[in-house]
Amino acid sequence: MRHPPTLLLHPSDRRYGSLVRIDVLSIFPSYFDGLTLSLLGKAQHTGLIDLRVRDLREWTTDRHRTVDDTPYGGGAGMVMKPEPWGLALDEISADSRPTIIFPSPAGEVFTQATARDLSTREHLVFGCGRYEGIDERVFDYASTLGEVRLISLGDYVLNGGEVATMAMIEAIGRLIPGVVGNPESLVEESHEDGLLEYPSYTKPSVWRDHAVPDVLLSGNHAVIAAWRHEQQIERTRRRRPDLLPPENESV
Ligand SMILES: C[S@@+](CC[C@H](N)C(=O)[O-])C[C@H]1O[C@@H](n2cnc3c(N)ncnc32)[C@H](O)[C@@H]1O
Repeated sequence: MRHPPTLLLHPSDRRYGSLVRIDVLSIFPSYFDGLTLSLLGKAQHTGLIDLRVRDLREWTTDRHRTVDDTPYGGGAGMVMKPEPWGLALDEISADSRPTIIFPSPAGEVFTQATARDLSTREHLVFGCGRYEGIDERVFDYASTLGEVRLISLGDYVLNGGEVATMAMIEAIGRLIPGVVGNPESLVEESHEDGLLEYPSYTKPSVWRDHAVPDVLLSGNHAVIAAWRHEQQIERTRRRRPDLLPPENESV
């Protein structure tokens, strides 16, 4: 059964910003239903993001819609066959030269810098692997159609590329101009300046005997900004010292 694209928009539908096209190839397209919600769902309605989720099995040619086969050379598990990938990528990249991302635990690690870089592209394609992964020749072939990136969500192994793709689309999507209403909230976030974000508080000022730091009630914006920066450094030093420069003097 063909899974309908999350939302198809014509470029003339966009109200502001530029349209970024994102194609996803997966044998479990329903995973991506969650991307119709919240900010990314809204971004599709307003025409900022054109997300098209497609079932890889659409490009199979046999009765059983087979996408996997046994590995050459032996070994455990199954490998995704190249033929459906080739046909799908041919169709999806017919009118453009996209950036083609294959989530992989053996790829470069995804960071905020990767998200920022990818948020500037006009056409992204995500190819979600399953089983033991995709026949290696698919990556070589895809590089004739566009830029290929193998990207890991982190040093652990997932069952498939869907969750990794969703995480990447969310991180990339919120950096597309217009997707997050207040762009200032993006600037202050963790990883944007190489540090973790400072702690946040809201009302009431005392909750179950825990008080909000006095400085935040002072109304003195310069003092608050200095306190927040100190908190960022302290928190990063404690939780993620690997993010700080070795000598830690320039922070
Ligand atoms: C079970 S994994 C295959 C792992 C592969 N045999 C290996 O050892 O590198 C199946 C698919 O899940 C996805 N995947 C698993 N771990 C991932 C990670 N850390 N980051 C991104 N994608 C991942 C990839 O799409 C991969 O093709």
